[in-house]
Order: sequence, then C-alpha cells, then structure tokens
Amino acid sequence: MSRSPAHEIADPRDEYVLGHSENEVRRLTLQADMLRSITERLMRNAGIREGMKVLDLGCGAGDVSMLAAELVGPSGRVVGIDRVSDVLGLAVERSKRAGYDNIVFQEASLATFTEIGTFDLVIGRYVLIHQSDGTSFVRAAAKCVRPGGVLAFHELCLWKPTYPFPVPLYDKALGWLTKAVQSAFLGPEAADRLAMHFLDADLPRPAMFSEMVVGCVESPLLLWLPDTLRSMMPVVTRLNIATEEEVGIDTLSDRIREAALETKGLLTSPLQVCGWARL
Ligand SMILES: C[S@@+](CC[C@H](N)C(=O)[O-])C[C@H]1O[C@@H](n2cnc3c(N)ncnc32)[C@H](O)[C@@H]1O
Repeated sequence: MSRSPAHEIADPRDEYVLGHSENEVRRLTLQADMLRSITERLMRNAGIREGMKVLDLGCGAGDVSMLAAELVGPSGRVVGIDRVSDVLGLAVERSKRAGYDNIVFQEASLATFTEIGTFDLVIGRYVLIHQSDGTSFVRAAAKCVRPGGVLAFHELCLWKPTYPFPVPLYDKALGWLTKAVQSAFLGPEAADRLAMHFLDADLPRPAMFSEMVVGCVESPLLLWLPDTLRSMMPVVTRLNIATEEEVGIDTLSDRIREAALETKGLLTSPLQVCGWARL
C-alpha cells in the first residue's frame, strides 16, 4: 500500500449536520454509553492491548478515545482528532476529569492530519456516515495505520428489521429520523457499503459483526431517539417529513414511555455494524 501523506479527501460540503449544541453534546454522551459495549467488542476483536497507539477519527466529545485509553493503559497513547474545535474543548475537559493523561485531542480533519503510518489501531465511530466519499475516507484513514496495524469502523445501518411487538409511536419517530438522516447525511449507506469501501480502497476484506440495542421502557433509546430527533428537527420540518405539531418533541419521550408501558413492546435501535481489517 502506498503511504504518501497526500490525503485525497477535502470536500467543503462535509460538515457535521447535527452541530455541537448543548443538546447534541448530551446526546452524543448518552449515545456513547449505549454503544460502549459494542465499540469495546470491536476494539477487542481488532486486537487492542496495553501499550498500543490508537487514532480516533472524528472523536467528538471524546468517548471512543476514552474507551481506547482505558484499554491501552498508561503505557499506551491515544490521539483523538475532530475538525470542529468547540467539541474538542469538551473532550479535553471530560478526559481530564476522568483522569486520562494518555490522550491528546487535536483539531484536524483527516484530510489535513499528517501523522502517517504510525498507529497500531485507527478507529472511527459514526464518522463514515458523514462523508461524501467513503472510499476516499477509508483510504486516507488506512494511511495513518502502521504496516500490520488495524483499521476499524463502527457505523449505523438505517435498515431496521421489523419486530413482532413494536411500540408504534417509537417506530414512527424512528421513521422520521431515518428519512432525515437519509436526506441530510452525506454517507447514509456507510454501514451497508463498509466492506465495499475497504475493497474499493484496495484494502483487505474486513471481518464484521452487527448488533442492535434492544430494550423495554427503561432503555436509553427512550431518551436517545427524541434527543437525536431534536438535533434533526430543522431537517425534518424543512423537508416536510413531519410537522413540529406531529412530532411534539418536548413530550415525545413521555408519550413513547406511555405507549411502551401500554403495549409492552420493544424499543429497538438501528443496526450497529462493525468492521475491521489488519493492513
Ligand atoms: C456523530 S459524531 C461521532 C463522535 C464520536 N466518534 C462518537 O462516536 O461519540 C461525528 C464527528 O466526526 C467529526 N468529523 C466528521 N468528518 C470528519 C473528518 N473528515 N475529519 C475529522 N473529523 C470529522 C464531526 O465533527 C463529529 O464531531
């Protein structure tokens, strides 16, 4: 594989549509708690161990970086990069508060990041879904991996299996969110195309697994869905996916709770798709 520092991606449309408002940052950390065990399984399958050097692409509020820092221990090192500086301040504050001194956060987009070929593990969670050219992003990410190191992604698949006992209001709201993501995100098929992106970037075929978060009325999905929809409301109304009155964002969580209690149905997340390959 060629290891020139010339990264190919630089698309000015690649901005983070959810923004980094207080609600969005709270949502990211709630989402991180919910996804932690799945991302940890990905990192362990990818062979993470003490002393490793890890790069977290699109680190946001720093949750994947902190998880990696825990797994590589004090002798390891984690670099978290994000192209938005506001959210990095929060990542620094949270990681300091949690006592990690083996993480460095850096404002950089993958296109401008210059530490090439030195990381044992390069990982991105929910970052490919924001790229207009997933293959170029995967190829650029691979350049940061040392020979013999691992490249890994945890992405979100918008296709969701139908369960026999759903909570209809929850599924309706998830449908609004899915439509908004399909229209506004640059790479809504990132999870479906994950293996394709590796192959098109001339990388080995990734090993993969998929899980979903499932729960009853006490599930974090009860807050995650309304919080995510709140961040996406400008898109939902602009594209006439649903009106503000229909969504009723301020009471949505309570209404889903009531519906879940009444129907005894299940709340189910979109499928989480993880893939990794040794380069
Ligand atoms: C959905 S958030 C995920 C945050 C974090 N990975 C997590 O799972 O909690 C995606 C983040 O990726 C960042 N991002 C998107 N494209 C990027 C790029 N090309 N280079 C660096 N950061 C990027 C965004 O600014 C945003 O903070």
